[in-house]
Amino acid sequence: MNLSRLAQSLGQSATLKLNELANNLKAEGKPVVHLGGGEPEERIPAGAAEESRRMIDSGFVRYTPTSGTAPLKKEIAAYTERYYGVKPGPRNIVVGSGAKQAIYNFLVAALDPGDQVIYPVPYWVSYPEMVKLAGGVPVPVKPAEGSLLVTVKELEARITSRTRAIMLNSPGNPSGQVYPEDFIRELVALCEERGIYLLMDDIYNRLVFDGLKAPSAFAYAKKPLNESPIVSINGVSKTFSMTGYRIGWSVASEALTQAMVKIQAQVSSCPSALSQAAAAGALRDGGGFVETLRSGLERKRDVMVEELSKLKKVKLAKPQGTFYSFPDFSAYEKDSKKLSALLLEKAMVVAVPGVEFGLDGHLRLSYCGAEKDIIEGVSRIRKILD
Ligand SMILES: Cc1ncc(COP(=O)(O)O)c(C=O)c1O
Repeated sequence: MNLSRLAQSLGQSATLKLNELANNLKAEGKPVVHLGGGEPEERIPAGAAEESRRMIDSGFVRYTPTSGTAPLKKEIAAYTERYYGVKPGPRNIVVGSGAKQAIYNFLVAALDPGDQVIYPVPYWVSYPEMVKLAGGVPVPVKPAEGSLLVTVKELEARITSRTRAIMLNSPGNPSGQVYPEDFIRELVALCEERGIYLLMDDIYNRLVFDGLKAPSAFAYAKKPLNESPIVSINGVSKTFSMTGYRIGWSVASEALTQAMVKIQAQVSSCPSALSQAAAAGALRDGGGFVETLRSGLERKRDVMVEELSKLKKVKLAKPQGTFYSFPDFSAYEKDSKKLSALLLEKAMVVAVPGVEFGLDGHLRLSYCGAEKDIIEGVSRIRKILD
């Protein structure tokens, strides 16, 4: 039987593949250190556990409205107002099965075949494949040599008559870098002026360090939400350590949101009712939880930076947020796939090759796991390379 051209053109998710590999090696009893992970190790917030339990005990776990339950949307609206400076109504929100589905809903709603989507390098591995899945053409934009951040001018230079959207993830996976206020202000102005959607992937937006705040695009918007090109993506996966619940959402204009609702209705009807109840519980009383998670990650970031500084030829832009670092190993090996394979074989350390994020010579090393694993993993890398 034939497979579609689209299916054949898609790459496998490099990060999910490595996760599977690490888990299989662990199950075989191998002493693997997993620095390739993408989820915090913390237990879920108490409010999330209580709400899921309450629903199970009720015996009723049913379909919900496609765009999400009223109680969850109420919590999302309050959360968005508190942290992003705009108050969405229920018709501005779609809750999906993870931020991933929310991004995909957007792309399918916004793109005609051949439309282009611009995003900076290094990018999250799924962006190019998701754009292709939605019939679009990915347009990755590389920063200047030695930088992990592009300029608005560099993005603007790639705009054509087919450009429909710019996507930004700040702080970013894999670099942990935060785009500054001036950049966000200029980018919002550019997108408003040119009528180009600005997808802000805010999934790590509250996991920032050193007293920094990741700017919200809405803070610089001149247009009201219902005329705005801004689409903010968020969710409970990272900030509330609830990756397995699969709850993410979008906040955008009513017209775009209602198109996204139609798409989701045909694809998955609604996200899990149990997970929505849990997400509402997390948002309701998760303030302290997020701060504990954030400060723990900041400590682990410091451990990662300290350990990497012992590698003589590694260059590192200190991560300002997320739980990823993106050191430059090119002085040791320019081919990041080769380096990642070598580290797995000789040191039993899982690290994601930078080329998967569009920038060879780097590795993505996560610090969301245990501190002892960060220390052990980087010291094994040092033994092999130095
Ligand atoms: C930048 C970025 N956006 C979105 C997601 C997807 O989040 P979710 O698990 O809620 O689908 C991830 C997960 O790794 C991510 O790194």
